[in-house]
Amino acid sequence: MITTETSLTRKALSGKRVLITGTTGFLGKVLLEKIIREIPDVAGINLLIRGNKKHPEAHARFKAEILTSTIFERLRETDSEALEQFCEQKIQCIGGEITEPCFGLSDQDYQQLAATTDIFVNSAASVNFHEALDTALRINTLCLNNVADFAQDAGDIPVVQISTCYVNGYNNGIIHEAISKPTGQHIAVDEHGYYDVARVFGELQQKIAQVKASTPSPAQPDALTELGLREANRFGWGDTYTFTKWLGEQLILKRMIGKTLTILRPSVVESCYASPKPGWIEGVKVTDAILLAYAREKVSFFPARKAGVVDIIPVDFVANSVLLSMAEALNEPVASRIYQCCSGSQNPLGVERYVTTVCEEVRINWRKYPKLARKEPQRKFVLVNKGVFIGAIKVMKQLTTLWDRLRLRSATNKSKALKMVESTLKLANIYANYTSPYYVFNSDKLMALAAKMGERDQQLFPVDAAHIDWDRYFKEIHVAGLNHYGMEDRSKVEMPEALEEDRVESQLGENSQAPA
Ligand SMILES: NC(=O)c1ccc[n+]([C@@H]2O[C@H](COP(=O)([O-])OP(=O)(O)OC[C@H]3O[C@@H](n4cnc5c(N)ncnc54)[C@H](OP(=O)(O)O)[C@@H]3O)[C@@H](O)[C@H]2O)c1
Repeated sequence: MITTETSLTRKALSGKRVLITGTTGFLGKVLLEKIIREIPDVAGINLLIRGNKKHPEAHARFKAEILTSTIFERLRETDSEALEQFCEQKIQCIGGEITEPCFGLSDQDYQQLAATTDIFVNSAASVNFHEALDTALRINTLCLNNVADFAQDAGDIPVVQISTCYVNGYNNGIIHEAISKPTGQHIAVDEHGYYDVARVFGELQQKIAQVKASTPSPAQPDALTELGLREANRFGWGDTYTFTKWLGEQLILKRMIGKTLTILRPSVVESCYASPKPGWIEGVKVTDAILLAYAREKVSFFPARKAGVVDIIPVDFVANSVLLSMAEALNEPVASRIYQCCSGSQNPLGVERYVTTVCEEVRINWRKYPKLARKEPQRKFVLVNKGVFIGAIKVMKQLTTLWDRLRLRSATNKSKALKMVESTLKLANIYANYTSPYYVFNSDKLMALAAKMGERDQQLFPVDAAHIDWDRYFKEIHVAGLNHYGMEDRSKVEMPEALEEDRVESQLGENSQAPA
């Protein structure tokens, strides 16, 4: 019987050993923290972490890059000894590469991991729009073969695969928690209703090989990025990230027919709404890149569909959805499920309202956000429709380039006006598809799951965006969190002005993340 004291999620996960990938990333950290804080009876947490230059060994990387994160401040403040103890007794760090068969582990380590895992959450991905097609395919798509193999080798354990709502590609209207249909080049469907993506992989691999054979090494990354965008567009997606995530969904759905699989699709994941710290965020995410550019007076107008619904969901809601999905998968195995963790249908937030709220907050209270804005942004942020934007930016680029030429300015000494036009163009290339939405993500199935899990779980693991007060979130939580946590790394070193500018440029350009 469900009472207000019973948490089905805690009960389902009690005594279970969980394998998680992607915990050096944003969502992975929040999920890990929540498990430690709210599921103390979990038997163990295995973290698959790849080594990096600074920390080649997984455990060293865990200690240096995960455990030191401010996401654990609350746990540390409550009982730092208990946190240390939990980590020592229950967390196992495994140095592995998810794109390699058997994660690149020795036979013995692989068998050991398989024997000590009851459920697998795969959060690892490349969320970069500018990713080269071969890399994006490896990490967002093909590695799911290794995930499915592992699930089978571990005794047909459940898998929770983190995907993205934006696998909808160019589909418009209400987007349900179901398989998304490509709108471009035809892909045949098999007898189970899944798309025949094996043929697509073959075609893509051939094109990748051709590009590699015909392009000198230094130019290959750009050529493979271009190829990714071209192929994504051809099949019905705006970028390589969402295209390869869709391919990944298809691959794993097919590989896990008759097994236990939950695909969880978040929309644009932003700072914590409530727990463990309101406003906690890592780095500058998606729509925040535009806000940061505005705060730094690099952008003051942008293409957007004002009446569209921008779908933002706080990261704690996403971590909670993962936990509910895990519990359900353990309680009711052998099923294929798709959930969308989003706000569109529960609490729609208009593009215009969102942009006006955050930009005005920064403009009016800029002194409260010294890491975001160094002075008061002089202009209001203006949204224009795509057609107007394309015409206006073309003319502005011509005029500012001409002006720079007349003033004999070199490419390394561009005027502020030309830089502004270029930053706007760069950001528009990446984000314009997402600021002009003609679709609304629906989360009825996730809401039904939350209802099924009962009252206690709704309190402990809230997932319903209807409870979000958007004005409070943006004005009191998110912008402050972005300034405090998101810009954290930048504040550690006092950069000379010129270098600081370069860092912001790169933050706004190549390193910007996809509206994943
Ligand atoms: N952020 C969003 O707005 C958003 C929205 C919708 C869906 N999602 C999905 O949510 C999940 C988590 O996203 P996030 O924002 O947390 O991303 P993130 O901060 O970029 O983290 C990505 C994680 O994936 C790991 N990873 C990447 N390549 C790997 C590889 N080859 N082998 C092992 N690990 C690898 C990274 O490890 P390293 O540190 O070693 O690189 C990192 O831990 C992803 O599946 C993403 O598609 C995110």
